[in-house]
Amino acid sequence: MSARTILITGGAGFIGSHVVRRFVTRYPQYRIINLDALTYAGNLENLRDVENAANYAFVKCDIRDAEGLKKVFAEHAPDGVIHLAAESHVDRSISDPMAFVNTNVIGTVTLLNVAKKAWAELILNSILERGAAPRFYHVSTDEVYGSLHDDGFFTEETPYDPQSPYSASKAASDHFVRAYGNTYKLPFVLSNCSNNYGSHHFPEKLIPLMINNIRNNKPLPVYGKGENVRDWLWVEDHASAIDTVFHKGVNGETYNIGGHNEWKNIDLVHLLCSIMDKKLGRAEGESAKLITYVTDRAGHDLRYAIDAGKIERELGWRPSITFEEGLERTVDWYLANQAWLEHVTSGDYQRYYTAHYADR
Ligand code: NAD
Ligand code: DAU
Repeated sequence: MSARTILITGGAGFIGSHVVRRFVTRYPQYRIINLDALTYAGNLENLRDVENAANYAFVKCDIRDAEGLKKVFAEHAPDGVIHLAAESHVDRSISDPMAFVNTNVIGTVTLLNVAKKAWAELILNSILERGAAPRFYHVSTDEVYGSLHDDGFFTEETPYDPQSPYSASKAASDHFVRAYGNTYKLPFVLSNCSNNYGSHHFPEKLIPLMINNIRNNKPLPVYGKGENVRDWLWVEDHASAIDTVFHKGVNGETYNIGGHNEWKNIDLVHLLCSIMDKKLGRAEGESAKLITYVTDRAGHDLRYAIDAGKIERELGWRPSITFEEGLERTVDWYLANQAWLEHVTSGDYQRYYTAHYADR
């Protein structure tokens, strides 16, 4: 396999850190540049185990900062971009939609412009000498397809119908990537994935929030009646799918990624309570007493469910573990990593990275 330089944006976040770890460890011949603005959701502690690897570098940069991005492209000459940096939490998009327009739409277009120009004018020759064709990989979400009723699945042909400011901003970014492919012939691939879970997941999202609250005997806020359905995929399986699409996907194509694993929120919360009762030595049913029904999320999408047939058939990707196994590993990780949880949920984390990484 040829030597490549790959710029991964959002690599200090939940999914991005798993993608960075996978690429740094599986492809020692590649140089992996992790570009991240380190917002509240970005945490360099997620990458402690690889931060000293010879093929890894971190750059603190905002994807809205065109000059900063140009410097990174000039210095590192990446021939691949895997773009994950985004504002990712639906509830935050309801209270602050402009942050989502700014990062997810304007940030993505800024990155597209810089990649297009750099690949066309500055480094194309040296990239071609390396034997690697440029590729812009945009990582997106199933939420762009909107909300399903009781049956049916999202396929790559499902029309876009985003319902939240978050999904609208991701849909807009997807459209821009395809438009740059069509108009400027930017080589791209795109994937839309279902809900991820696993280690290093910021505890404002359902699964880590519930694990954290169960452990601390705090109320478990279930929105509405808890009947909304999500299709859960273990984050390391998403990282393996991203690896597959990046290396084997066809330019201009979109791949849906999912785990065929639908759960009603309330059933999932009960399952987590039951697992945690066992792990914490509590009587069965004790943690479930913490379940509290709260006001529903505004415009709450009822159901997401992915048809992952295309990536399975055409690229041979499949999830590697069952939900039971993944959930067990996830709960164990959170119980063993209380310090991480405390850092990300307290202001200490912000001070931590300023103190440790001020020079980056
Ligand atoms: P996350 O919120 O955990 O991480 C986002 C990362 O992006 C953070 O490290 C943050 O510091 C960085 N970032 C944010 N704004 C930035 C900016 N302006 N410039 C540079 N860096 C910035 O998100 P996640 O859950 O890991 O999601 C990663 C990507 O995958 C997103 O694009 C998201 O839409 C997509 N996705 C997420 C899921 C999911 O279930 N979490 C599912 C499908 C797709
Ligand atoms: O489908 C992929 C998307 O999944 C990603 O694109 C998003 O970045 C990611 O955040 C996730 O979006 P959701 O809104 O589905 O995830 P969240 O964990 O916020 O919520 C999952 C479900 O649980 C949803 O129906 C809302 C509900 N919920 C969530 C929270 C935080 C609750 O009932 N209580 C809660 O406290």
